[in-house]
Amino acid sequence: MRFGLEDAAPPRVQCDLLAVPVAEPGTLVGVAADVDGATGGRLGQLARIEAFTGKQDTTIAYFAPDTPFARVLAVGTGTATDPEALRRYAAVAVRRAREMRAARVALSAGPNGADVAERVRAVVEGAGLGAYRFDRYRSGPEAPVESVAVIVPSGTREALGGALRLGESAVRATCLARDLVNEPANVMTPAALADVARSIAERDGLGCRVIELDEARQMGMGLFAAVAAASDQPAKFIVLDYEPKARTGTSPRAGGAARVVALAGKGVTFDSGGLDIKGASGMATMKGDMGGAAAVIGAMGALRDHDVPVRVLGIAAATENMISGHAMRPGDVIRSLAGKTVEITNTDAEGRLVLGDAVAFATREGATEIIDLATLTGSCVIALGDYTAGLMANNQALAERVLRAAVLAGEQVWQLPMYPEFLDAMRGEISDLKNSAGRQAGAERAAAFIGEFTGGTPWAHLDIAGPSFCEDRGAPPYMPMGGTGFGVRLLLRYLASQG
Ligand code: BES
Ligand code: MN
Ligand code: ZN
Repeated sequence: MRFGLEDAAPPRVQCDLLAVPVAEPGTLVGVAADVDGATGGRLGQLARIEAFTGKQDTTIAYFAPDTPFARVLAVGTGTATDPEALRRYAAVAVRRAREMRAARVALSAGPNGADVAERVRAVVEGAGLGAYRFDRYRSGPEAPVESVAVIVPSGTREALGGALRLGESAVRATCLARDLVNEPANVMTPAALADVARSIAERDGLGCRVIELDEARQMGMGLFAAVAAASDQPAKFIVLDYEPKARTGTSPRAGGAARVVALAGKGVTFDSGGLDIKGASGMATMKGDMGGAAAVIGAMGALRDHDVPVRVLGIAAATENMISGHAMRPGDVIRSLAGKTVEITNTDAEGRLVLGDAVAFATREGATEIIDLATLTGSCVIALGDYTAGLMANNQALAERVLRAAVLAGEQVWQLPMYPEFLDAMRGEISDLKNSAGRQAGAERAAAFIGEFTGGTPWAHLDIAGPSFCEDRGAPPYMPMGGTGFGVRLLLRYLASQG
């Protein structure tokens, strides 16, 4: 899909479908009023006939003869006026456009006023994310929307090019993460993930190191190796390294210790549960258990576009969790990279094992803060539902920065507590820790476990088990079925703002 900016007054835009947002109670103002005027008052007429009041996600469409736009689509945005409302509007518009077989679409970025850059970005994100479909394996894919022109106030086009490019980059990165999740586990193996990471590194000039299982074992990553042991697919511990380009006059390392932000993603390309095997319904979507790694890899490939000013290490701990004679057993005690020992009390609690070694690796590599993303617990989905990630952290300032980035990105994140009793529950009988305990506070206990391997480095953990993979059609219109790419946009917002 191609994006462009158009500062022609709406009545002059050439396209198959011109979409305008209409807020409740349905009063036609701004561009909607212009379009109503250009089409002989038909928008207002139709709104009355169809009792269209601008309710969120509702639409009306009509032909516009004798204008350069073939059809008009009014999309309700409800009472909210934030960028999120525009993201939804744009997604609804492109989805309707595809149904209507409109290839060239123009989207008004809403009424004139402040924050036009944020609104352009929201419209681009909504349109790009809403248009996404994973149709690689379909024989007769639907015709796509080919181009989206975002209509902006006249004279502002030049100034808004940057906002358009940031939106496009965020869309590209998010859709890559979606693809990685949607690819089945027989295709998106740890080796395939490593290949994707390598090609991103080559394209963007990032460092890339892929640690093979033997080497990981030798380094002491016992937890990662224990999960990987039963798989016939070679595990890969993937590390991408982004350095900001030196800026004229200032060095990124000027003024004291350099910041190194580590992103660590759970990359379990298939989670069978291991010997504590999952039931059929629980296993059905477990190709998506690498959604954290997908978000990390997706974001790493957009850091240059976003001109991120700090060094970023992107870690994707990629392995299957399978069953064989080499599988870890309940009761096994394993030594971690950080030195702490862990009794495996449930082989299905494998995500915290690979992340325990991943965050310990990050601290060894000099990370000054760590953000991990993981489809970690069913418990988090029970607590917060399908569209909200749980945030747990050992550092409140970091947690609050992540929460602010999430709000800007329009990704729902809610903080959960880290009370000492959650860690107490994870203490082992014959080892330092055990990897599972009871059902109470499952998401928080899992986080407390991972926190033990951070060595006190400021750390935030995002449990994305709910929002990473979408299984019902009640989701926001820019969230497709399957992989959602959750986390990419909040990571980009976060990193771009860390001066
Ligand atoms: N990958 C799962 C968590 C999950 C569940 C992700 C549903 C997405 C949707 C994780 O490895 C797991 O199996 N967690 C267990 C932990 C338990 C054994 C302590 C869980 O949540 O039930
Ligand atoms: Mn599991
Ligand atoms: Zn898992």
